[in-house]
Amino acid sequence: MSLDLVVTCARGTERALRFELEQLGATGVKGTGRGAVELPTSWEVAARILVESRIAHKVLWRLLRLEASDEPELISGLLSFPFESYGGRDDSFAVDAHLHSCPWTHSLFAAQRVKDCLVDRFRDRGLERPSVDTKRPRLRYVFHWEGSQASLSLDLAGASLSRRGYREPNAAAPMRETLAAAILALGHADVQRPFLDPCCGAGTLAIEQAWRALKRAPGLGRQFACEFWPHQEQALSDALRDVRVSVREQQLTELPAPIELGDYHAGAVQSAELQIHAAGLGRYLAPKRRDARKLEAPGERPVIVSNLPFGERISGNNRLQLEGFYRTFGDRLRALPTARVLVFSGHPDAESLLDLGQPRRFSLMSGALAAKLLRYDW
Ligand SMILES: C[S@@+](CC[C@H](N)C(=O)[O-])C[C@H]1O[C@@H](n2cnc3c(N)ncnc32)[C@H](O)[C@@H]1O
Repeated sequence: MSLDLVVTCARGTERALRFELEQLGATGVKGTGRGAVELPTSWEVAARILVESRIAHKVLWRLLRLEASDEPELISGLLSFPFESYGGRDDSFAVDAHLHSCPWTHSLFAAQRVKDCLVDRFRDRGLERPSVDTKRPRLRYVFHWEGSQASLSLDLAGASLSRRGYREPNAAAPMRETLAAAILALGHADVQRPFLDPCCGAGTLAIEQAWRALKRAPGLGRQFACEFWPHQEQALSDALRDVRVSVREQQLTELPAPIELGDYHAGAVQSAELQIHAAGLGRYLAPKRRDARKLEAPGERPVIVSNLPFGERISGNNRLQLEGFYRTFGDRLRALPTARVLVFSGHPDAESLLDLGQPRRFSLMSGALAAKLLRYDW
């Protein structure tokens, strides 16, 4: 049986996701535009994506595709969907809705209308309806309506795959784990080369690099919503079991090259320590309190990766200070004989202030802010 999957990711990282999925055995991966790709695939590949993808946010099993240019057409299509085959009275559910250029404009209203269709379908068949649980439902439906194309999917993982389980709740605006992994993939942060993040904040980039280097699968320690579905797909359970065994066997116990990280704020270093510990990396990573303007290479041919402060809310002297920081940091990097440098920043003048020559540029988002990944090699 061929599964119709939609895999979502941060905007701007679709190409890196597509490459990653192909490495995991997927074929026929197509971009769908904003932050998603689609592919026809098997349960084996779906299981590998759930356990091994570093860049994917959600893995959606698309069950229904509809042509609908107005509400009556949509509702009649949704009422024809056999909701009762996927869960009964005892299986709580939730609906998330995503709308783009379609007759409905409010996603909460849309989610409510899809929920009503499910309830009507149960009632019309004399069945007891399941209850809604928006926090921890057994089945999470994802409804998407764009133009005249609508679809209904089930979320295989339940919660975003970016939740690796090491996130420190008190860290000051840590980077999303999947974005960090995408930056490392897009920037070819070679795990065989010494690595340094001199402005590490809570340490997400270094943690993701260490997991890559140790071949630690990000989903190994978690369970997925599909494992609790009432009608479990035997092929999926078997595939998940096999993938877990094989990724465990492939894990390394030593880093191929050193990974260093530092920050000049004591609070950031403390958050990084907590995240490193939660990620099971206490033996490998030791964040230091250091000033990036005095950066020293962690070894020969280093990979230096940093998410620099954007300065989106500062002005006056603070702005000048930040610009001075970018210039000094650029000077320090330029003094290294060889390096691969990856700078992730939303500062509009990052490139000219660093003055490191022509970078390769990738347009990404940092939450709601536009940002760029700049890659330099010399
Ligand atoms: C955007 S945050 C990095 C967030 C990080 N990627 C994470 O996931 O938590 C930028 C960091 O640069 C640090 N920083 C600013 N100036 C610095 C300097 N001169 N030396 C070292 N770190 C600095 C800040 O303390 C802050 O933690």
